[in-house]
Amino acid sequence: MTRQVSPQGLSWFQDARFGMFVHWGLYSILGKQEWVMHTDRIPVPEYEKLALQFNPTKFDADAWVRTAADAGQKYIVVTSRHHDGFSMYDTALSEYKVTNSPFRRDPIAELAKACSQHGVKLGFYVSLLDWHHPAYRFRAESGLAWADYLGFLHGQVHELCTQYGELAVLWFDGDWPHAALNEDNAYFLAGGSFEYPALYDKIHELQPHAVVENNRHAEPLPGEDLQGFEQDLPGENTAGFNTTTLYGLPIQICMTLNDHWGWSRHDRNTKSVQRLVHLLAKSASVGGNLLLNVGPTPEGEIPTLHQERLREVGRWLARNGAGIYGSRAGTLPPPRGCVCTRRGDRHFVHVLDNISDCVQLSGMSEPLQQARLVASNTLLERESLSPDGVSLYLPPDRRDPYATVIELM
Ligand code: GLC
Repeated sequence: MTRQVSPQGLSWFQDARFGMFVHWGLYSILGKQEWVMHTDRIPVPEYEKLALQFNPTKFDADAWVRTAADAGQKYIVVTSRHHDGFSMYDTALSEYKVTNSPFRRDPIAELAKACSQHGVKLGFYVSLLDWHHPAYRFRAESGLAWADYLGFLHGQVHELCTQYGELAVLWFDGDWPHAALNEDNAYFLAGGSFEYPALYDKIHELQPHAVVENNRHAEPLPGEDLQGFEQDLPGENTAGFNTTTLYGLPIQICMTLNDHWGWSRHDRNTKSVQRLVHLLAKSASVGGNLLLNVGPTPEGEIPTLHQERLREVGRWLARNGAGIYGSRAGTLPPPRGCVCTRRGDRHFVHVLDNISDCVQLSGMSEPLQQARLVASNTLLERESLSPDGVSLYLPPDRRDPYATVIELM
């Protein structure tokens, strides 16, 4: 039988509720997000020249991890190798890697060290698809076989699982079973199976507490521990590729802070703090973690505006985190404009909309003893509406600017 994550690993992950996703690589130099090699039709020899330029002199692993910690994010998932095939760590399995760029350093080793100092866990994004590797893309020309690519992919996962301490997440991308291939993207086609059972077993053996997610937008396979959603909350499908079926697994929702994953020079559509807080509360209310992406600049910095937004979310969490961390999907019917989470037998109501001064609860299985605001510990006045319903008065001057959290006891 295929292994899964350990129960401790899974509950740590679910309790964490909030992580930082980082898309950073050669593509960051061009400032046109991580698909630029494909979208701008850059031939391999041209794109490879970026490796001679990569020198993010302002990269400071400690600063990244402090930003995540200040935001209240408990883990960081960083691109180890994206579709462009460039390894962002010192792999022994390729010369096309960051330590051969002018930068020379291994940023992932530096991140692993900073993470352990700040109590933030580390995880990796791994691309299954590779637009550069000869055994993926150029088998006819190179005489290599699909087995050579599999050896590389599985070998890299082995390196990542053994060289950077305890990991929280392995996040795979680039196998989209429902994506249509045409002559434009025919080179995305894999040469065979990725041999997931062996890949996942290796991870669960080497890193028993790490969760495995594969961004396939399809029913999770044995060995995958989560169901993932991309740019949408469960039930929504604005992205067009998210499934609306829930498979009963823990959930992780990845989202961008603006509209792109990798650094995108012209993208000014940064989400407001209110929207970020609401996404976090909504994710938690359906039993999901929010993996919120930043795309550092070619110099190696998380854009200042994004840092500011993250820190402000962190301040909201410092006031209201009791309703997020350690929580599971809410079981109370959410009042209008609200979402609910639960921690053991405690229910939390996250008031997202400022539509009136009372929150009217119904469908409570037990009588309410007390209701208090998490941030200020203020007890709320209440009035019974029916045997299972109650109205809580929310003093307007006690509202949180982003979301007011009420604990029911
Ligand atoms: C999509 C994109 C990829 C990105 C990922 C993050 O799969 O192809 O570039 O890394 O989403 O969710």
